[in-house]
Amino acid sequence: MKGADMDTTAPGGVLDRAPMRARVVSVQAGGLPQAYDVLVGRGLLRDLPSLLMERVPAHGWVVIADTTVAAFYGGELVQRLRARGLDANLLTFPAGEQHKTRETWANLTDAMLALGSGRDAAVVALGGGVTGDLAGFVAASFMRGVPVVQVPTSLVAMIDASVGGKTGVDTPAGKNLVGAFHPPRLVVADPETVRTLPVAERAQGLVEAFKHGFILDEAYLDTLERDVSSLLAGDEAALEAAVLRSVELKAMVVTRDEREGHYRQILNFGHTLGHALEAASGYRLPHGSAVGLGMVLEARLGEMLGVTASDTWRRVARAVESLGLPSRLPEGFQAEAALSFLGTDKKRREGRVRCVLLRRAGVVDQGVEWSHVVERGCIEAIMAEAGDQS
Ligand SMILES: NC(=O)c1ccc[n+]([C@@H]2O[C@H](COP(=O)([O-])OP(=O)(O)OC[C@H]3O[C@@H](n4cnc5c(N)ncnc54)[C@H](O)[C@@H]3O)[C@@H](O)[C@H]2O)c1
Ligand SMILES: [Zn+2]
Repeated sequence: MKGADMDTTAPGGVLDRAPMRARVVSVQAGGLPQAYDVLVGRGLLRDLPSLLMERVPAHGWVVIADTTVAAFYGGELVQRLRARGLDANLLTFPAGEQHKTRETWANLTDAMLALGSGRDAAVVALGGGVTGDLAGFVAASFMRGVPVVQVPTSLVAMIDASVGGKTGVDTPAGKNLVGAFHPPRLVVADPETVRTLPVAERAQGLVEAFKHGFILDEAYLDTLERDVSSLLAGDEAALEAAVLRSVELKAMVVTRDEREGHYRQILNFGHTLGHALEAASGYRLPHGSAVGLGMVLEARLGEMLGVTASDTWRRVARAVESLGLPSRLPEGFQAEAALSFLGTDKKRREGRVRCVLLRRAGVVDQGVEWSHVVERGCIEAIMAEAGDQS
């Protein structure tokens, strides 16, 4: 799936500037009635009022953002919408994964009811993946479902979370356990917003971009390797190209399998072991860092099982290191702790551990339904080895 060019023409609003060029990726959600577009382009945020009016007409707009993103972009967006005569309100919640909860969902839905929002309202999820998941779930459930427009502002959200239609909240029993498929009506990704995103957060998102390269596209992987410093430094042309390619690849995957079917499994490369490490660390290890380590370990695992070409893991490790993230387990890491969390991976089937394995850099192995059943003993061996890689 390749992006197409589009002019987003702002019809004369005083606060909107000249037409923007955007790239458009269409996502055909399998089994769902309509496709949706992902627009990627620098400066698109300024065109959002026009885009919303043209593409997602609604009676009232509820912009949901965490307090950090609200301060940067939320207030201004609502002002712009109001300047266009639209009924728009900003609802905020405290930033951070710990607020991606049913309680925050309840506060937001109560606030929408207090505003008098009805079935003809629409939600704008403005922010990182936490906001996208939470506001998406608010939209999925409010009045049994109102449209949501995803406006991702973090690289995790642009590269991964805003495309695919998964929404939800965390519970004490685990992350993302309560939620719904609620594909967005439109996604608007403006890489200019990365200017304000801390570098550490950029690295977290770029891990998933490397994941896309490793499973599907070696040419993209080459580009990421070449441009990694510019991407971390916030080079907007490089960011726009990477966001676009990742969106194209993720759109291709979810178009082929919008619901959690087998092809979509390939997006879980690095995630079986990554999730276990994340959980074993008590979620102190951020998701991207855990997935980076998970990709290194799963590449080694693939090599041990004879599925992955030799020395692929070294390329994965170099990619992770180039982002300033760990490529080996911390000293004294207790492998048993992570192994105990493997048993609770919700993607586990029939009590066995399944991993997505590479055939080589840029090509995922088909395995059986796009993953491999792996004996726990092999994972123990990989974890044990990973402490003293050379
Ligand atoms: N639905 C999916 O398919 C999917 C996929 C991947 C991740 N996720 C979810 O995404 C979440 C992680 O996303 P995240 O890393 O974006 O977390 P996040 O939303 O918490 O954002 C990270 C931090 O960056 C800040 N921020 C975001 N954009 C900013 C900007 N432009 N300028 C300044 N600060 C900014 C936020 O306020 C926050 O403090 C997790 O909850 C994960 O489960 C969902
Ligand atoms: Zn991930």
